[in-house]
Amino acid sequence: MRVWLMAVVVGIAAPAMAADGLAQTPPMGWNSWNKFGCDVSEALLKETADALVSTGMRDAGYQYLVIDDCWQVRRDEQGQIVADPQRFPSGMKALADYVHAKGLKFGVYSDAGTGTCEKRPGSKDHETIDARTYAGWGVDYLKYDWCNSEGQDPHDSYARMSRALRATGRPIVFSMCEWGTSRPWQWAQGIAHLWRSTGDIQDCWDCGKSWGGMGIVHIIDLQADLYPYAGPGHWNDPDMLEVGNKGLSPSESRAHFSFWALFAAPLIAGNDLRAMSKDTVEILTNREVIAVDQDALGMQGRKVRDNGPQEVWMKPLADGARAVILFNRGTEPSDIAVSWDEIGLPAAGKAVVRDLWTKGDVGVLAGRYQASSRGGPRFVGASLKWASTSVPPPGGPWRRTVSSPTSPPRSTAKWRRWRR
Ligand code: GAL
Repeated sequence: MRVWLMAVVVGIAAPAMAADGLAQTPPMGWNSWNKFGCDVSEALLKETADALVSTGMRDAGYQYLVIDDCWQVRRDEQGQIVADPQRFPSGMKALADYVHAKGLKFGVYSDAGTGTCEKRPGSKDHETIDARTYAGWGVDYLKYDWCNSEGQDPHDSYARMSRALRATGRPIVFSMCEWGTSRPWQWAQGIAHLWRSTGDIQDCWDCGKSWGGMGIVHIIDLQADLYPYAGPGHWNDPDMLEVGNKGLSPSESRAHFSFWALFAAPLIAGNDLRAMSKDTVEILTNREVIAVDQDALGMQGRKVRDNGPQEVWMKPLADGARAVILFNRGTEPSDIAVSWDEIGLPAAGKAVVRDLWTKGDVGVLAGRYQASSRGGPRFVGASLKWASTSVPPPGGPWRRTVSSPTSPPRSTAKWRRWRR
């Protein structure tokens, strides 16, 4: 299996602003769940904040430090949520202060139902007091789950917390974790800044669990039709990263990271930042790949060709370049080519192709680029290729159309324009 990514230009974009201006590019940070589950503590969070700084991850863009499930134990007599006093002896305000002093932002987790997935108190009927409590602590990000919500309407439940957060006056990124069940991409723009689009990611390339957990390649497949729904301030979330955990090879990890960048996905690391291999740091801090994810145009990439085991995926970038993944998902080595016309460029144009993993220009190529798979069976290579055309692009500059959440998503209009 093998992957490459590349890009080519067509114009200038004016990113649309979400109502509150938050998450104009996909949020980046770290979350405790994938690696630590319920084993969270003040010490872990502080050490992770330190590691975000010392490894260079903060400076590469990772900003939000988010505690997932299990930090909370009960409510007090006033109904206020109480953090585990054994695991968080200094309290959440002190932890938030520590995180902020490192130049980072602080996030917590709750659930729209009566209890979290790990049976801690949920926020149902406590939205206002919880939002105020979080704001008082200095919380900047809330991940909001969907366990124990039988009989609840997701739109109503998430809108309630969204309103409660806004009413605090504190800018808080709102991350919906409803697993994609009610197709939140169709209704959650304006309620949340990001919404999970699948069940829980698993630390494996192609495994699947009967309860809905799934490996990287299955999540990739489920993103294919969601590109019209992402944009500045409202992102599809294919779940947190598994880079740096035990289940993926280095090349599978590069493929995982490449696709998340092409999807304009939130980049929320989920590994132990205190003990990372050189490979893991290099992947997570590859600024050229991160730049694809964080591109100001804010378009999610899509599949432009599917030849069975060979696929070509493309994401337009603000400067008109294209990010392209050449993906061999088969078990045999094979060559994959992309021609300029299938990524919206003049067929006979010349393009500079750059490999965003080797960080080198491949050359100025006419009409097409062909990459050869160097690997044997099941090898996954992940390269990102950058190209810029030397021929004036067709159709002139990008334009965004303004749309209400009920009209066709603005990205659809952009894509339609690109496809002319
Ligand atoms: C799941 C969620 C995971 C994690 C977990 C905590 O519903 O998808 O990302 O938050 O709950 O219990």
